[in-house]
Amino acid sequence: MLRSVIVGTGSALPRRAVSNAELAEQVDTSDEWIVERTGISNRHIAADDETTSSLATDAARNALAAAGIEAASIDLIVLATATPDQTFPASATLVQANLGCRGGIAFDVAAVCSGFLYALGVADSMLRSGMAKRALVIGSETFSRILDWEDRTTCVLFGDGAGAIVLEAQEQDGENLRGVLATRLHADGAHNQLLYVDGGPSTTGTVGKLRMKGREVFRHAVVNLAEVLEEVLVETGHTSQDIDWLVPHQANARILDATAKKLNLPREKVVMTVGQHANTSAASVPLALDQAVRDGRIKQGDLVVLEAMGGGFTWGASLVRM
Ligand SMILES: CC(C)(COP(=O)(O)OP(=O)(O)OC[C@H]1O[C@@H](n2cnc3c(N)ncnc32)[C@H](O)[C@@H]1OP(=O)(O)O)[C@@H](O)C(=O)NCCC(=O)NCCS
Repeated sequence: MLRSVIVGTGSALPRRAVSNAELAEQVDTSDEWIVERTGISNRHIAADDETTSSLATDAARNALAAAGIEAASIDLIVLATATPDQTFPASATLVQANLGCRGGIAFDVAAVCSGFLYALGVADSMLRSGMAKRALVIGSETFSRILDWEDRTTCVLFGDGAGAIVLEAQEQDGENLRGVLATRLHADGAHNQLLYVDGGPSTTGTVGKLRMKGREVFRHAVVNLAEVLEEVLVETGHTSQDIDWLVPHQANARILDATAKKLNLPREKVVMTVGQHANTSAASVPLALDQAVRDGRIKQGDLVVLEAMGGGFTWGASLVRM
């Protein structure tokens, strides 16, 4: 059976880390409020020379090195981002040029914080249909560029970063097949006004700033995430007790706790990086995955659930045997 197997992970963060205390010098907030409501202590903010494509390239190089694979053999790059370097061309093509692998498929996917799950779903389908053999699936964001730094209700919540995986089509036989076992994706465009950017090329001709009704987003997130997680488990005949690791989108520690509780999953099985990275949108799932792989928690053969929810709304989950 042809499966898309994760053969390497990588990530990259901007050089500059910004603590809550540093933020509280510019914005009317406090370390105490941010930690208590979100679990966030720190985030990384990109400098002028650090862009979505440069962070994506660094994360991709780290994933390729971990996989022991030359960039030249990559024939598909899917980059999830809501903060591309340019309106066009796709930032994926910039990454392709940086890596020096020409002629394959390269495009961006826009599903905001669920972007990595959407990118993974698309790449997995393309690999299993034979359109490509080796993919880089990347989530990379520079949300600091679209934050309203005067709005304390949003600017304290986000950070910049990138994460990547190398996904390879492999024939897998027998029990405990490795690879992506199931992916479920959803969208409900009726909720546009709860989380959006107030600009764009076709409306204002500007980039715009992020706007969010946090409390309502929170409520939808907990319900949608628990439902979609259940879907991938039912589809594959698993229960939450079979899961070795949950690698969720890192928006708020309280959302992660509530999701784990709904699934009856102990907190120790949830990979949490929100405290150090804040919400890095499409980058957050691959960033967290890479961290847990590199520190030895996630091992080959582990059953891992990836999940995310974001603007749109969009949401999704994927069950992967590492
Ligand atoms: C944003 C979020 C942390 C806010 O937490 P909350 O408990 O809902 O807090 P509220 O928005 O009700 O605000 C409570 C109070 O804190 C204040 N406040 C908001 N941001 C603040 C900040 N950074 N510092 C200090 N006070 C702040 C508010 O003004 C409000 O004050 P008031 O009661 O006097 O009006 C929370 O709703 C959340 O995480 N939502 C989900 C967001 C998310 O996941 N988005 C991404 C999805 S991809």
